[in-house]
Amino acid sequence: MKFDELLMDTFNESLERCQTDPHFLTLFYKKFVISNPEVQEKFSNTDMEYQKMMLHASLYMIMLATRNNDAAEAYLDRVAKRHSKSALDIRPELYDLWLETLIETVKEIDSIFNDDVENAWRTVMTFGIDYMKSKYDD
Ligand code: HEM
Repeated sequence: MKFDELLMDTFNESLERCQTDPHFLTLFYKKFVISNPEVQEKFSNTDMEYQKMMLHASLYMIMLATRNNDAAEAYLDRVAKRHSKSALDIRPELYDLWLETLIETVKEIDSIFNDDVENAWRTVMTFGIDYMKSKYDD
């Protein structure tokens, strides 16, 4: 898939504003964990500081995977398999909640949030999420 350059610039600039704010991923996980008991249960034994670092990296990796970067595609494949039914068993519906929580968080953190920024996040993240969901039954 070819992503529009303007959309990618909008995404990258917002990603940078968010990732440089130390509250971004703390706030995201705070919201996500309380959003649903199943999510809370999945993270009950997780080192959340480490988890934040992993998500920090994977947001860049999803962005690079939209550009068909080989290393990023291999990374996304490994992360998708780790979330599949036979491993962490993350049901596909939970990704929709994940995305809505992420958008809510970006809206709070990014001082120049607008409809274009929201659309850019949704487009880029949906690329990663669709891939993760497609590997659920593997
Ligand atoms: C596109 C969306 C997502 C991305 C990019 C992502 C990314 C990651 C990454 C990079 C890891 C670390 C994998 C490793 O240790 O090798 C991880 C672990 C994990 N993720 Fe996700 N994740 C996503 C969605 C979700 C969702 C929807 C859930 C639902 C609860 C979830 C639950 C978990 C859990 C439970 C772990 C393991 C934590 C532990 O080690 O205790 N993830 N995720």
